[in-house]
Amino acid sequence: MKKIFDAEIISNKKISPEIFKLELNAPELEKISSPGQFVQVKIPSEEFTLRRPFGIASVSGGKLKIFYRLVGRGTKFLSQVKPGEILNLVAPLGNGFNLDAEKKYLLVGGGMGLAPLLSVAEKIPGTKVLIGGKNKSEVDFWIEEFGEKNIGGYLVTTDDGSFGEKGFVTEHLEKYLSSDNFSAVLTCGPEIMMRGVAKIARKNNLPCEVSFERRMACGLGACLSCSIDTANGRKKVCKDGPVFNADEVF
Ligand code: FES
Repeated sequence: MKKIFDAEIISNKKISPEIFKLELNAPELEKISSPGQFVQVKIPSEEFTLRRPFGIASVSGGKLKIFYRLVGRGTKFLSQVKPGEILNLVAPLGNGFNLDAEKKYLLVGGGMGLAPLLSVAEKIPGTKVLIGGKNKSEVDFWIEEFGEKNIGGYLVTTDDGSFGEKGFVTEHLEKYLSSDNFSAVLTCGPEIMMRGVAKIARKNNLPCEVSFERRMACGLGACLSCSIDTANGRKKVCKDGPVFNADEVF
C-alpha cells in the first residue's frame, strides 16, 4: 500500500563521475515494500512539478537507498540537496519481482539497472549477479554494494574491458549460467540488453523477469506516459510493472 511521506536525507554522495547515492531515513518503507518496486521523489523546488521515479535499491535498518544518474535539471538539483534536508516521497509503487526464497536466482544488470536488483540480493541470500557497465568507474561501486550483501558470487563485464571481462553481459551470460543450477533470471538495464538476456534465458529453459525503466509523469497509472506493448495488450510500466514476465514483453 503506497504512502506519501517526508524522509530526511542521511547522505547524498557522488560515487562516480555522473552517479549519486542517496540515503534517506524511511523506516516505514521496510515493512511495506518489496524488491523491484520504486519510489517517486519530489524535487524540492517549485520549478519541478513532476516527481522523479527511482528504483528501490535497498531498504534496511530504516534506511532507504537509491541511486541516480545526472541526466537533467531535476537530478542536478537533487544532487545539491544536503543531509538533514527533507524530501517528499510516494512509495512503494509498482509491482516487484516474484520471489521465492527457495529458488536460486541469477541477477543480470546493466548500469543503473543494477539498483532494483540490489534489493533482490538483499532479500535472497546466495543470489549471484552479473554486473555490467561501460567502464571501471561505472561498476566499482556496484561491486562494493553487492559485496555488502550475502551474495553467492558475481561476474563483472565492462564494455571497454577496463575491469572484469570485456564485452556486454549478454556475451558472458551463457557461460555464467552453466556454472550453477539457477532457477530463474531477473534482469534490469537497457532494453536491448534485457531482450538479449531474455532470449538466452529462454534458450536455457529458465523463467525470466525483466524490470523496465521508463520516463514517468504521474507514476500512478493515470497519464499513460509509460505505456508499452505486451502480448496482452498495452500495459503501464508504473502500475502493471515495472517488472514483467519476459515472455509477455519480448
Ligand atoms: Fe502515468 Fe505510468 S506514469 S500512467
